[in-house]
Amino acid sequence: MYVCLCKGVTDHRIRQAVEEGARSWREVQRDTGCGTQCGKCACVGKTITRDAVMSE
Ligand code: FES
Repeated sequence: MYVCLCKGVTDHRIRQAVEEGARSWREVQRDTGCGTQCGKCACVGKTITRDAVMSE
């Protein structure tokens, strides 16, 4: 599903960023652009990032 409509970032893309080494929401933002425009997706993006980092 799309998490970030501004930047077209999916939950899959966030998990992929974590698999590729991102370890924090800030790093996911840097790698995907998620949450860098209107910021509405930040809460969901952070949750998915946290889950993905914990299951690594
Ligand atoms: Fe993600 Fe706007 S929906 S920055």
